[in-house]
Amino acid sequence: MCGIVGYMGGQDAYPILVRGLHRLEYRGYDSAGVSLINQAGNLNVYKATGKVDALEEKCREADTTGTIGIAHTRWATHGEPNTVNAHPHLSQSGNLSLVHNGIIENYKTLRAMLEGKGYSFCSDTDTEVLVQLIDYTQATSRCDLFTAVQRALKSVVGAYAIALLERSHPDRLVCARKGSPLVIGVGTDARGNKEFFLGSDATPIVEYTNQVVYLKDEEIACMDRSGQLDIVNMDDVHQTPEMITLQMSLDELEKGGYPHFMLKEIWEQPAALRTCIKGRLHPASKDVVLSGIIDHKDKFVKARRIIICACGTSWHSALIGKYFIEEAAQVPVEVEYASEFRYRNPVIYPDDVVVAVSQSGETADTLAAIQLAERKGAFLYGICNVIGSSIARATHSGTYLHVGPEIGVASTKAFTGQVITLCLLGLAIAKEKHTLSDEMFHMLVDELYQIPDKMQWTLENNKDIDKFAQMFTYCRNFIFLGRGYNYPVALEGALKLKEISYIHAEGYPAAEMKHGPIALVDEEMPVVFIAPRRGMYDKVVSNIQEIKSRKGKIISVVTEGDTTVAGMSDHTFVIPDTRDCFVPLLAAIPLQLLAYYVATAKGRNVDQPRNLAKSVTVE
Ligand code: F6R
Repeated sequence: MCGIVGYMGGQDAYPILVRGLHRLEYRGYDSAGVSLINQAGNLNVYKATGKVDALEEKCREADTTGTIGIAHTRWATHGEPNTVNAHPHLSQSGNLSLVHNGIIENYKTLRAMLEGKGYSFCSDTDTEVLVQLIDYTQATSRCDLFTAVQRALKSVVGAYAIALLERSHPDRLVCARKGSPLVIGVGTDARGNKEFFLGSDATPIVEYTNQVVYLKDEEIACMDRSGQLDIVNMDDVHQTPEMITLQMSLDELEKGGYPHFMLKEIWEQPAALRTCIKGRLHPASKDVVLSGIIDHKDKFVKARRIIICACGTSWHSALIGKYFIEEAAQVPVEVEYASEFRYRNPVIYPDDVVVAVSQSGETADTLAAIQLAERKGAFLYGICNVIGSSIARATHSGTYLHVGPEIGVASTKAFTGQVITLCLLGLAIAKEKHTLSDEMFHMLVDELYQIPDKMQWTLENNKDIDKFAQMFTYCRNFIFLGRGYNYPVALEGALKLKEISYIHAEGYPAAEMKHGPIALVDEEMPVVFIAPRRGMYDKVVSNIQEIKSRKGKIISVVTEGDTTVAGMSDHTFVIPDTRDCFVPLLAAIPLQLLAYYVATAKGRNVDQPRNLAKSVTVE
């Protein structure tokens, strides 16, 4: 989704802004723009469709001087991706320039009102309405920009993170947020003066400073050149900036020798999951300690039901979590698409626990779903990767994945991070409820602890996937099948393939095939089976037979040493043996690699697939 960068300080703003835009490319976008105030007090705006490189090309001969500026990557919502609709948008007076993430829901009403006051518009966007509204408020109230933003936003319905430049005041940067994140970085320039950075997440800021303030909802901030940072809320009450030290490192934002972030993140999984379980899973004492539930044991022990709300890949990990938590902790778990849940009138009991699973912690539907659950009295638990994200802050308690920033749009290490975290949650609840025998509990702790090593083995023993994948570039369809714990893995394998290779793929429970989808199978159809030697092995073998007799091409994920399924398959990927419930953590890996190599063989941009955004902050 859209990205915001801003800078004010002693350095040239343009290189910082453009570098920041590159850092935000992972979020997905289709146009970019920058605006700066130069020494002479001119407010320059440059925009380009396509990639940030195109913007740089456009700016090569332009005046990009100035030590204050804002920049934006736009993921089109209102109006097509062209230079008119790209941000920054200028006010009619030419005094204000604004970038915006989010959606203004009542923009049509506001636009009609402003047109009645003599304002005209050149774009189709809701953002242009915002900048004219602030301009109008400033002109009619004769107030400074900080106050005008505060007053104007009172009549705005929707979600926003905004940043503004004011030509007549090149010494201050104003920003505000509601429902869309905004981070202010506070650094010191070469002369020892304070400088300010702005980002829709911390990635454009981390190389300059690790001191940041996460703006809260309905807060407006004004930074000035004297180093002053003022924050007020919508009721004009001053807020003390809460300075946080970023834990992110620059290395985590670089490809580190890999051709793509996605491949790097696939290979990072063993280390990332070791970090995730560190201090939580204790093989020596055979214990699981999740600080997020320590203070809320009662909520989990007494929970009549757990409802997990999520979207996309996170929904798949939630489904694996359901199977595990129900089995281990003997509590019913429902998994909901957040986008559906939020618009139903779901029955929520006061003793329900609602869990939000979200890598970014910013997914608009997931956030809205838990807000609804909270209004209905549920206890909220968040499983997020991004520290300080909206969902992490909106929940009563929770667990961070700690798998490091995920830059590739297709989720990989966050998926396995979510699965292992949900397993930890299931074990932690089981411990409190005594639903597992000591023997079983200890065995599961031991086995889960070995998963990162087994992931490493899986990565190292499936190195031929790249050559094998080339054969499938011609395919138009794929089917992924699994049963039990591996049904969600099939869904995830299909999603990975379709989102980055653009090959149509479907995941099904293997036994569902004969209820319809088997009609699709012919010699052209590759069918991927997740068929470990555990669980419903014999039944999956029968399902493979059914596909084989219809001449489908069988690709299977099998346990090391398996000869039965391997013998029936055109190609196999191997994983080490593990308990049924933990197979998804291993089986996901060859499927991620398959998607990656098919997509790269087709020349796709795997890190930024078309139309997709890393953080879906609009519904
Ligand atoms: C697919 C993918 C998406 C996200 C979904 C939810 O690879 O990453 O399906 O899982 O958009 O995002 P989060 O987890 O940030 O809530």
